[in-house]
Amino acid sequence: MTDPAFWHGKKVFLTGHTGFKGAWAALLLRRLGASVYGYALPPTHQSSLFVTARIADDIKHRVADIRDLNALRAAMAEAEPDIVIHMAAQALVRPSYEEPVETFATNVMGTVHVLEAARHLRSIQVILNVTSDKCYENDGAGTAFREDDRLGGNDPYSNSKACAELVTHSYRQSFFNGQGAARVATARAGNVFGGGDWARDRLVPDAMQAFLAGEALRIRNPNSVRPWQHALDPVLGYLMLVERLAGDEHFVGGWNFGPDGASEVTVGTVVDHLIALWGDGARWTADAGPHPHEAAFLQLDCARARARLNWTPRLNLSQGLGLTVDWYKALQRGQDIRRVSLEQLERVLQDTVPNGASR
Ligand SMILES: NC(=O)c1ccc[n+]([C@@H]2O[C@H](COP(=O)([O-])OP(=O)(O)OC[C@H]3O[C@@H](n4cnc5c(N)ncnc54)[C@H](O)[C@@H]3O)[C@@H](O)[C@H]2O)c1
Repeated sequence: MTDPAFWHGKKVFLTGHTGFKGAWAALLLRRLGASVYGYALPPTHQSSLFVTARIADDIKHRVADIRDLNALRAAMAEAEPDIVIHMAAQALVRPSYEEPVETFATNVMGTVHVLEAARHLRSIQVILNVTSDKCYENDGAGTAFREDDRLGGNDPYSNSKACAELVTHSYRQSFFNGQGAARVATARAGNVFGGGDWARDRLVPDAMQAFLAGEALRIRNPNSVRPWQHALDPVLGYLMLVERLAGDEHFVGGWNFGPDGASEVTVGTVVDHLIALWGDGARWTADAGPHPHEAAFLQLDCARARARLNWTPRLNLSQGLGLTVDWYKALQRGQDIRRVSLEQLERVLQDTVPNGASR
């Protein structure tokens, strides 16, 4: 578990706080008593978690670009953070085919800028760079990736995340290696879902949008296997890693955060779960394509996080999807989403999430 005593009063510079995972991270950090200094582009959806849970009311919210080194330097220097968690990214595969230059600029040079801004600040104890399970070279063999496996990635998004890993390694070896230097780690998680995500071409948001509109969900690759997880699980893992890293330099390096084997299932299985939870005539149909290449099989070996951080996912697939459907249904009913989101967070922290929907 995370330790509120560690987080209380800590200053956390969080990039990407207006995004899906970043907004959950901001909510959790505030719940643990940290001060959050967010740095990101504006939210892209009026029903995002950031907007609906009114995250801006509770943190230092700055809208700015990580491609702007001077702005980033100034913002980080002003915050004088204890911890930097870097989540800002162009986070999707399909747009990375449409906008490869922007994807590499944000994900690679943006990471350089975050590390560059951080290296001149003595207040920083820990830097966590959130990359992706797609940073590994995927030969399609189906073996679960371990942290020391070869980096790669064919599409621009995956490749940019492998590059962000290499950039982080270089900065750690070159600049964060002396006495008193910040300790630097990377976190590689898989597909996550949860309330407040509206990203295009992600299965769960696509499903929620289709069901809210009373339309059939169109599915590209029903047989693709992915590790599925509620966003709060890896986010809790990230915070546990930061805590351990602050106390022990041996926790530097790369860390996988993924679900247990039972949650590594096909797209079709997740869709069947969602349809059962949603009810109301929810349905799916095959989307014949053409579609750009995406790896059919991707699994993570998370033995390192389990053994050394004592981290295990708190939610199984059914619990995670149940919370997610509840969130979108609450939005549909016009409920107070800040309250709903905080209640969901509390349930996860207290281990009181029932299987399936919590209705
Ligand atoms: N969601 C997933 O399934 C998943 C899986 C693996 C890894 N990740 C990684 O987790 C992190 C967060 O992902 P997410 O799902 O919350 O993505 P998201 O698209 O919801 O949010 C991205 C965030 O990055 C910010 N951002 C993008 N470009 C920026 C720029 N140039 N300058 C400043 N801010 C910028 C956005 O404003 C937003 O706050 C990303 O690094 C992503 O690659 C996500």
